[in-house]
Amino acid sequence: MRKPWYYWLYVRSPIAKILLGILTVVIAFAALVYQGFALEDKRMQAQADNWQGRSVEKGAELFYNNCRPCHGEDGKGLPGVAPALHSRYFFTQRLVDVGFTGTMNDYIGSTVAGGRPSKFVRQWAQMMPTWSNKYGGPLRDDQVRHIVNFVMNWKEDSLQQSWEPGAENHDPYQPFLDAPSKAPVGTITYTIGTPASMLTGTLTMTDTGGAGGAAAAPAGPRPPQVLFQAMACGGCHKLGATYVGAVGPNLDELPDVAGTRVAGQDAETYVYTSITEPAAFTVPNFPAGVMPPDFKTKMSEEEIRGLVKWLLDKNRTY
Ligand code: HEC
Ligand code: HEC
Repeated sequence: MRKPWYYWLYVRSPIAKILLGILTVVIAFAALVYQGFALEDKRMQAQADNWQGRSVEKGAELFYNNCRPCHGEDGKGLPGVAPALHSRYFFTQRLVDVGFTGTMNDYIGSTVAGGRPSKFVRQWAQMMPTWSNKYGGPLRDDQVRHIVNFVMNWKEDSLQQSWEPGAENHDPYQPFLDAPSKAPVGTITYTIGTPASMLTGTLTMTDTGGAGGAAAAPAGPRPPQVLFQAMACGGCHKLGATYVGAVGPNLDELPDVAGTRVAGQDAETYVYTSITEPAAFTVPNFPAGVMPPDFKTKMSEEEIRGLVKWLLDKNRTY
């Protein structure tokens, strides 16, 4: 009789049959294990990447609404208002300069969550506000994490920046007066503006040395438009199309509500007091103690009066 083509599949020996059976089980098991570990690992990695991407997106939106007014549109800082975060210095040297031994993630996370309490040397117009609602700020912990992911997202691009001041993609870092940089100072000339010098021009420093420099005295009262920007009010308040802060009340509504907030206070007195003594009255549903208490030491009486008039004028220009 002719053998069928699959005759070689006939296994006669029972031992061989058992061995074959065992081999099949082992192969099947190995396949399962591979599926379980290697493929699952990849799938989880893909999911983590996806989550990371979405977190960065959420962080971008939160940054736009809360941080942009002080740290600038693309995180490159605003002179005299807040330092650059989208900066080579920030990612390579900042932790060394402040003596922080943790990770960059932790540094950003804790700074955002807790803010920076007032310091002896105040170079910026405002303090960095407290953001985590653990410390009385407006953001949840997950939102703070999204923002950290968004800021970390600038690292790669920042490392491409050049130290040369004239270069197209130069580091936008502005030196901190109280934490002298060990970055290549001397080869770079930075320009910074302090609140007092913003109107009369900028202060150029080649070596921070920790001492700073005397700011030129401002010539005459600064106009309200300049003050609102320089004091970073827009970091916390919405006003017109220019400022989008959401920490404090929307100041577009101020002309309508100012006269109704405190019994016996007319609109002007109320707004004046809100700026000079923020603790005197807390607007319902907003956190107390967040609006900085020291504006009266940073603006002259005349300047504050001008700012109050401007805020109450619905036809104000920007
Ligand atoms: C009212 C203005 C203002 C707003 C709004 C603001 N910041 Fe700041 N931020 C500052 C100032 C000023 C500093 C520098 C503080 C100091 O003197 O050390 C700072 C510092 C920082 C630092 C540390 C920078 C460094 O080099 O050490 C980080 C990180 C930071 N801010 C992130 C944020 C994020 C994220 C947001 C939005 C949730 C935000 N900031 C909103 C003003 C602001
Ligand atoms: C760090 C955040 C922050 C900054 C910066 C800030 N504010 Fe405020 N402001 C608040 C918060 C929060 C409130 C509401 C709680 C309260 O009444 O203290 C408030 C309340 C006010 C009110 C009362 C508003 C109302 O509807 O009754 C006025 C007016 C005001 N701020 C003006 C200013 C001006 C002008 C500046 C800049 C010179 C400024 N703020 C800077 C956080 C801030």
